[in-house]
Amino acid sequence: MEGTLSWTFVARLADVPRLGSRVVRTERGDVAIFRTADDSVFALDDRCPHKGGPLSQGIVHGHAVTCPLHNWVIDLASGEAQAPDIGCVKRTPVHLDGDRILLGVVS
Ligand code: FES
Repeated sequence: MEGTLSWTFVARLADVPRLGSRVVRTERGDVAIFRTADDSVFALDDRCPHKGGPLSQGIVHGHAVTCPLHNWVIDLASGEAQAPDIGCVKRTPVHLDGDRILLGVVS
């Protein structure tokens, strides 16, 4: 059953390096907040759909991240692995309010 979505402040934009990420601990595991070159933010589980590699330590390029373990490329907006690889990472709603990053938490 879906619960209520509430927005939780997790970091300021400046706390996340451009083309980098910051890990936020949540009740259902670590979520990586990614910041792209154009200052978009995305939030995905910090677990690669291949073998659980830490996506937060991957290389961000465009709106994608390359996993540090075996180089799968994950689309930050959809969480989908780029072909020919198949897999999907769970996304968390994320929202920028000025320079405040808010994570959508379902409770
Ligand atoms: S664990 Fe990410 S590509 Fe293998």
